[in-house]
Amino acid sequence: MQPSPSVARLLDWYARHRRTLPWRAQPGETADPYRVWLSEIMLQQTTVTAVIPYYERFLSLFPTVRTLAAAPDDKVMAAWAGLGYYARARNLLACARRVVELGGEFPADLDGLRALPGIGDYTAAAVGAIAFGLPAVPVDGNVDRVMSRVWAIETPLPQSKPLIRERAAALMAQTEARDAPSDTAQALFDLGATLCSTTSPACGLCPWAPECEGHRKGIAASLPRKAPK
Ligand code: ADE
Repeated sequence: MQPSPSVARLLDWYARHRRTLPWRAQPGETADPYRVWLSEIMLQQTTVTAVIPYYERFLSLFPTVRTLAAAPDDKVMAAWAGLGYYARARNLLACARRVVELGGEFPADLDGLRALPGIGDYTAAAVGAIAFGLPAVPVDGNVDRVMSRVWAIETPLPQSKPLIRERAAALMAQTEARDAPSDTAQALFDLGATLCSTTSPACGLCPWAPECEGHRKGIAASLPRKAPK
């Protein structure tokens, strides 16, 4: 098996090209778990560009998990209106109230996070890595694409999911990743959202092109394959 691509190289690229996003901590600062969690719930099924104004308004109305937990349901639903998928908003409120019952702090471990309403494997890994520095990789569609290409995984999604998770875990096992899980996770999001785009990957600019098996084989743009519906 080819070695895991260099996280050091990925982080070097990220340091130079990281996107400025309102839920992102400045380099060297720690992220607020409440803000990270809120952004991750909003970013499920909604694009970054569409989320930004909602996120900012929501945060000005409910700046902390306690203000959100204490808010009347209809005020929260009104602030969510437009984002769609209202089950997310109901779970959001249930989660905030549960966190307050637990003492007002988000749990700092994956099992504790996963036990909260509306938090599955993906969100637990995202909040765990970004807010608590846990060595977890949140595997979203962007990360599926980057992993499928780097390893030229031709098995279609969703069958390739277990392999993708295994490769993502191997990536997180590198020393540079263990030292910076938050930046590693967000660098993967940014690589997937910018250079490693669905239809026209910019391999000429990509820090991983020299190590990318999909690029070497000339099949990067056709990955990941999808199983016929
Ligand atoms: N998509 C999901 N989570 C994200 C994040 N934290 N930054 C950018 N894109 C994302």
